[in-house]
Amino acid sequence: MKKVIVLGSTNVDTILNVQRFPQPGETMAMNSMAVAGGGKGANQAIAAVRSGAKTTFISKVGHEGAANFMLDTFKEDGMNIDHVTTSETAGTGQAYIMVDENGQNSILIYGGANQDITNEDVQAAKGSIKAADRIVAQFEVPIPSVIEAFKIARENGVQTILNPAPAIKNIPDDLLSVTDMIVPNETESEIITGIKVTDEASMEASAKEFFKMGVKAVIITVGDRGSFYATSEQSGFVNAFKVNATDTTAAGDTFIGALSSKLELDYSNLEEAMTYANKASSLAVQIKGAQNSIPYAKDILAG
Ligand code: RIB
Ligand code: NA
Repeated sequence: MKKVIVLGSTNVDTILNVQRFPQPGETMAMNSMAVAGGGKGANQAIAAVRSGAKTTFISKVGHEGAANFMLDTFKEDGMNIDHVTTSETAGTGQAYIMVDENGQNSILIYGGANQDITNEDVQAAKGSIKAADRIVAQFEVPIPSVIEAFKIARENGVQTILNPAPAIKNIPDDLLSVTDMIVPNETESEIITGIKVTDEASMEASAKEFFKMGVKAVIITVGDRGSFYATSEQSGFVNAFKVNATDTTAAGDTFIGALSSKLELDYSNLEEAMTYANKASSLAVQIKGAQNSIPYAKDILAG
């Protein structure tokens, strides 16, 4: 069983189901709406724990208690939330997610308490980071906190996986130098490397750019096509499972969490771990919402 620690956001997602995205200046009725647990960090931590990892989550929620229902879910799933703290000043992070009838989404984020995560919060979790096999982080929390966490991990031989989402153009060298594996989607990859991801040759070229930045392993996810991987020893493409997507929210998060529960530290089972992660995300996209759609190991293995 892999020991995974996730540093990242907790958001309350308000999901707005629309026929199509409105034009600027347009007022439009929506088909339906729902409120559900989300946040890239929380989604990835849930995917990790449900797919079989011993999982600890470092995050921050608002003082108003809007995330309490999520804390209950975390506990029910057996996640360690000793390092999910409460902001005295900010409210719980929020995401407003429009999902159109093709299952495409567009998301607006209010950072809230997630933006209050400090290096001290990370230091307080030092013992848990040291005890983990790997740490996973994204960009919905302050970047200095991610650097702090990855430095602790690197000093203690803990593998670091960065999901650079939402994408930023210039990832600090301080962070790249302590990142073992980077897992962007095609858009994020292009923003970071400047190379448009189309065919496998462009993915190989993008991976080379990431290697130059100091990263040792790369996975570029390309939605319903699947994902490309590269290390210094191997590269290839793993096809996604063909399903009818009703909501792709958290598909990437599910992939990363499931991957982190399965991947050997020497990447020796990369294709197998990616297939498992693809299976998990193919199940998640068939159900509306983020956390409620994240499958358990038994469903992934059965599917
Ligand atoms: O990756 C999906 C997530 O992004 C949503 O759950 C939303 O909260 C945003 O953070
Ligand atoms: Na979903």
